Amino acid sequence: MRILVTGGCGFIGSNFIRFVLEQNSSDVLINFDKLTYAGNPANLADVEKIYGGGRYHFCLGDIADREHVLAALEEYKPDAVINFAAESHVDRSIHDAMPFINTNIVGTQVLLQACFDLGIQRFVQISTDEVYGSLGPEGKFTEQTPLDPRSPYSASKASADFLASAFWHTHGFPVVITRCSNNYGPYQFPEKLIPFMFRQAVNNEALPVYGDGLNVRDWIHVKDHCRGVWLALTKGAPGAVYNFGGDAERSNIEVVRRILQIMGKSEDLIRYVKDRPGHDRRYAMDFSLAARELGFAPEHSFEQGLAETVKWYQDNSEWLDTIVSGAYLEFINQWYTKRERL
Ligand code: NAD
Ligand code: DAU
Repeated sequence: MRILVTGGCGFIGSNFIRFVLEQNSSDVLINFDKLTYAGNPANLADVEKIYGGGRYHFCLGDIADREHVLAALEEYKPDAVINFAAESHVDRSIHDAMPFINTNIVGTQVLLQACFDLGIQRFVQISTDEVYGSLGPEGKFTEQTPLDPRSPYSASKASADFLASAFWHTHGFPVVITRCSNNYGPYQFPEKLIPFMFRQAVNNEALPVYGDGLNVRDWIHVKDHCRGVWLALTKGAPGAVYNFGGDAERSNIEVVRRILQIMGKSEDLIRYVKDRPGHDRRYAMDFSLAARELGFAPEHSFEQGLAETVKWYQDNSEWLDTIVSGAYLEFINQWYTKRERL
């Protein structure tokens, strides 16, 4: 199969490309990426070396630009398109929502329309559990839970889901939507909780925990998510939505303490700071539909997966240092100044 992946230089996209190339001997992957601050070709340096120009092709482009998208589809003629490309960080969406509207909403619409126009046979839209809103202490999100996004990021992702569903209902275009919980693993941009806290701890700097630290996320190893996406691509029913989760609900403070413990660092580094505005309290996923229809089950235990991930960041300190550019540090500084006023 020829698969065009958007956003393949990001965290999950790069893991997905490696996952497919390593598990299947014939699939060809085309990586269509705009290379925003989060897109890093170094995430695929090994893949480029082994498969570049053969089973792997990189194509620079913006999903919100119809000419770029059409040119790539016409050149590479994929059988399937998987849309990982997005602005993905909630704090950034609070800081400035416009890039989220442009890529996550306009970009998804442009991509859907171009794929429909050219008769692409399969389209997978990568979505998130955040479209469902926030849970109290009990219960889990199912695919029937009404969408109730509460941050600019999740509102933009929910909009993309509605557009994707509309293509299925209006035109019979075979879209599958996947909604996954919080991923962790190698190559995650260090603005996200786990690599961010790792980096702070390495540098013996404060670990800023938002609010009371009791917000809960359901953590899934990125390889388990990649397997879920592969199953949705190859076995999912057209028009269906599938939830994926890791069966690993943990509070943020538990995760932060565990990282410090693995690294042999003191909990004195923890600082409770002002909460994220509109901070969702708890996410938990019921993925029984994906288990039943796709045979999906997470294989990594969180404790072991986290220890391996911390080791990966320790072993790849060069990767982490080069990714932390001036632009990234500028955002972090602006964000901490601005959030005090929110
Ligand atoms: P990321 O921020 O690490 O990577 C995003 C990638 O998309 C980058 O390579 C970037 O260059 C590219 N990109 C951004 N705008 C683009 C555009 N206009 N055109 C082409 N490429 C563009 O994101 P991630 O964490 O890997 O998330 C990937 C997808 O998975 C997103 O759709 C996100 O909403 C979803 N998701 C993420 C998580 C998570 O925990 N990270 C969980 C569930 C769902
Ligand atoms: O749930 C899936 C979503 O998970 C994805 O759709 C998003 O793309 C991804 O970014 C992630 O969103 P979160 O907001 O849950 O991830 P983040 O890593 O930003 O934060 C995880 C939790 O940790 C959240 O409750 C906020 C908290 N946090 C985060 C940072 C960066 C802190 O307490 N301190 C921090 O410095």
